[in-house]
Amino acid sequence: MILKHNDYLEMVKKIREITDFKPLIGVVLGTGLGNFIDNVDVKASIYYKDIPNLPISTNPAHKGRFVFGYYNNIPCVFMQGRLHYYEGFTPEEVIRPIRLMGALGIKKLILTNAAGGINLNFKPGDFMLIEDHIDCFIPSPLIGENDDNIGTRFPDMSDPYNLELVEKVYKCAKNLDLPIHKGVYVQYSGPQFETKSLIKAFRNMGADACGMSTATEAVASNHMGVKTIAVSFISNMACGIEKKKITDEEVVIEAKKAEANFTKLIGEAIKILSE
Ligand code: HPA
Repeated sequence: MILKHNDYLEMVKKIREITDFKPLIGVVLGTGLGNFIDNVDVKASIYYKDIPNLPISTNPAHKGRFVFGYYNNIPCVFMQGRLHYYEGFTPEEVIRPIRLMGALGIKKLILTNAAGGINLNFKPGDFMLIEDHIDCFIPSPLIGENDDNIGTRFPDMSDPYNLELVEKVYKCAKNLDLPIHKGVYVQYSGPQFETKSLIKAFRNMGADACGMSTATEAVASNHMGVKTIAVSFISNMACGIEKKKITDEEVVIEAKKAEANFTKLIGEAIKILSE
């Protein structure tokens, strides 16, 4: 079932039973940002499972909730835990929390993720501001009947990541001496990591980093007209670049190491987006 604008209004009503908080910026907290909320003046939170029509994440480590609060006096809604296509959800289900944040009135969105580095100039611990994405390895979340109250049938995707904001965040990160790059992200389904040949193909296509999320969500936010930026944390070099095997544990360990930098970067990004 594809949800309509009215379904989202029902979901907003449910949230309004617990808070009248009006967020301006949405932030999807990916791997490595689990403790970002410690910096937030939290006003309310609600689990996805308590909102009608929101799928429940199959990952027990994911909290699966919205947190409403002020970062530096800026009203934000944070997604602690996201949904992935590889969990078995349809792309339309994956983006329901994004559309709900749109229905709640956010004007801007920050997406974050952990990604494999494809560009040989990258190293684990670096960050990449996404300038563009390649998403043809997964179905579009917009497939199916379109509700014009959410967005147009054929949305433009020439600037899915607002390049003016990307430039500002990039400059700020450089000034703070954070290891930052700009580049192209490719999303594929996962959950298996890529093969060496797939990484070669991705590189030849122009991708700098790869992962299993984010582009789907950026398509949905652009469909709604929400200005979007996205930051990848390079947790490992992609398959075939280094001798060692890629494991989920390595991703989590590297993310923990980079947590302070990631927290600083996203904090600055929120401030820039609020200007
Ligand atoms: N590939 C895909 N997704 C990822 C990776 C990777 O190497 N690292 C973290 N997320």
